Amino acid sequence: MSSLDTLFEAAKAMQAKAYVPYSRFKVGAAIRTPGGGIYAGCNVENAAYPQGACAETGAISSMIAAGESRIAEILVIGNGEELVTPCGGCRQRIREFASADTPIHIAGQDGVRRSFTLEDLLPFSFGPDHLK
Ligand code: THU
Repeated sequence: MSSLDTLFEAAKAMQAKAYVPYSRFKVGAAIRTPGGGIYAGCNVENAAYPQGACAETGAISSMIAAGESRIAEILVIGNGEELVTPCGGCRQRIREFASADTPIHIAGQDGVRRSFTLEDLLPFSFGPDHLK
């Protein structure tokens, strides 16, 4: 299995676990780190709606909990006609641990539909270097 296939399967398995009683919109995300580690997350909603967390946020938390902090590539899977690209907040969260050319793959149930770079989705971004 290719490393992208592995990432897809990890995100898809996590998507099935999403806690989405309000939107019914399940999302999964999986990160591959430079060393080959795979960290996945799903969206977790809350009765106090703004407290819900995106799948990307969960995947990043899992990566950090494992002691890793670089994203080599990330894949997001969602359902429906539209590409399920990361929300604005998650683009910035990914930015913290990625580079301008880091691939962000957007998938549906059958596989990757389109790939972007972080620069595509968050141009002229603010990041850790600004604080040095
Ligand atoms: N959502 C994600 O988890 N990731 C995205 O990239 C887009 C949106 C979630 C948030 C919420 O639980 C549901 O999808 C509907 O907005």
